[in-house]
Amino acid sequence: MKKILVTGSTGQIGSELIVRLRELYGRDNVVGSARKGKDEDFAAGPFETMDVQDAGRLAELVDKYQIDTIINNAAMLSAVGEQNPQALWAVNMGGLYNVLEVAREKNLKVFIPSSIAAFGPGTPLEQTPQDTIQRPSTIYGVSKVAGELLCDYYFKRFGVDTRGVRYPGIISYKTLPGGGTTDYAVHIYFDAIKQGRYTSFIDKGTFMDMMYMPDAVECVIDLMETDPSKLKHRNAFNVSAMSIDPEMLAAEIRQHIPEFVLDYEVDPVRQAIAESWPNSLDTSAAKEEWGFEPKFDLAAMTVDMIKGIKHESDL
Ligand code: SER
Repeated sequence: MKKILVTGSTGQIGSELIVRLRELYGRDNVVGSARKGKDEDFAAGPFETMDVQDAGRLAELVDKYQIDTIINNAAMLSAVGEQNPQALWAVNMGGLYNVLEVAREKNLKVFIPSSIAAFGPGTPLEQTPQDTIQRPSTIYGVSKVAGELLCDYYFKRFGVDTRGVRYPGIISYKTLPGGGTTDYAVHIYFDAIKQGRYTSFIDKGTFMDMMYMPDAVECVIDLMETDPSKLKHRNAFNVSAMSIDPEMLAAEIRQHIPEFVLDYEVDPVRQAIAESWPNSLDTSAAKEEWGFEPKFDLAAMTVDMIKGIKHESDL
């Protein structure tokens, strides 16, 4: 990776990934893009407004900056996708197709995030294997499985260097996630600090995989910098740092905020999505093939989240 284009660079992951990429590869070698940008996005380094559904604009930016790698983070998440499945398909699959086509034409490398949402009913719930049944029940999950297959197809058929991970819920404090099922695990920290209580839309005892943002960012770099001869899989690797439910998160938060109160108002739509996803992933393929090794467990993440939210909010 020498000249990188990040789509969706103002989103939850993109906004932190781009900072790290610029540290490693140089400010001017990492171009951010999103449908809209704030003044600070334009000030931080090269940034262009672009909708991934616009193939012409995408090709124009690839040429303008001599891009060799696209990290395609522009996407709608699971819960918001159920409100508008047609829009999700247009953005997630239309965008991915445009990225793969420009990569084929101009010989680019591509990173594509997949998700635990690529699993569903029929998938083994515990220690979900790397290669297993993938019959998701959300439009987001359907787009992720289709995306994984399309990326493998572009690799096998056209030699496009496509790589990806199946992200679990990503926890962070700089940019909020936009309408996912795992978002409760982010909101709980903000409400714990600001109000001392949180009402969870996901029920107690519902286990999902999670990972802290710095580990999610390093995944991209570690996987993309791995010698391709080491990769048996490509799209996409199971990654996770912890398997937790709301009660475990609350107990950890109470180590720092003893009076924290957690109650529940379960949202049936998001609860059903959560129950269709794995409880815990087997990440051994990522470990073996490209050295995946997350640094943050629940305790370390909680310390950093609380410090970060307090710092950002001047508390
Ligand atoms: N965090 C995502 C969501 O909940 C899963 O990839 O939609």
